[in-house]
Amino acid sequence: MTLYDQIQEVLPRLGDFPRPEVAVVLGSGLGEWADSLEEIQAFPYSDLPHFHVPSVAGHAGRLLFGKVRGRRVVVLQGRFHFYEGYPIEEVVFPVQLLCSLGITTLLLTNAAGGINQSFHAGDLMVITDHINFMGVNPLRGPNDQRLGPRFPDMSRIYDPEASETLKRVGRNLGIPVQEGVYAAMSGPSYETPAEIRMLSRWGADAVGMSTVPEAIVARQRGVKVAGISCITNLAAGISPEPLSHKEVVETAERVKRSFMALLSESVPLLG
Ligand code: HPA
Repeated sequence: MTLYDQIQEVLPRLGDFPRPEVAVVLGSGLGEWADSLEEIQAFPYSDLPHFHVPSVAGHAGRLLFGKVRGRRVVVLQGRFHFYEGYPIEEVVFPVQLLCSLGITTLLLTNAAGGINQSFHAGDLMVITDHINFMGVNPLRGPNDQRLGPRFPDMSRIYDPEASETLKRVGRNLGIPVQEGVYAAMSGPSYETPAEIRMLSRWGADAVGMSTVPEAIVARQRGVKVAGISCITNLAAGISPEPLSHKEVVETAERVKRSFMALLSESVPLLG
């Protein structure tokens, strides 16, 4: 079954109410924003063909439609990752589906380790560009021209206008928002200090295990992409402390209020 046919199989399951222009993917520990939406219609991933159920704490596993400040939005509350063992094209299937719903803008969020020396745990960072160091590309394999070109341009993958909106809303709310380059590793082990030094010299400001495959796919589909990383910890070797998923979830919890405010105020302005 082709990807196109898989998407066609799921679309009718999502009902036929009006489709949103903006989609949001909520990363580790950041899922609670979805519960603040109005007029929620939720679909557990376990009810949807071709979806896996996230195995990681902090990922709910629901696709939902709702409204924020009167604007329609579709949300992936939690994601499944490459490190969970799925082929990369299965990891990005939910984003492929969002793109086929007719969205114009996709906002990707994640928890990330801070590499830039001026970052602190708890900072929010608008993603300006990325480095794909996962060792895989979600577009590998036969290309379906109905979905997008074989060799999509990635030179402005994160939409400058959407990124500007996120920064401006942050300023207006008094929430400091950093910006920088996100490097994706496959995980699930955290990086070594030597790997972080390498990524730092390559120009990375933050590191994580998601987002990049989703951004690549959305770009191929002609959807505008924006990204926000929650810097939940300083990357290996930058901080003397060992890294833990507990710290990631705890920091996400601590910055939840500003993260949620940033989303609620900026999402209605995107698209
Ligand atoms: N490295 C990779 N992924 C992460 C990190 C990190 O330090 N923090 C949160 N996700």
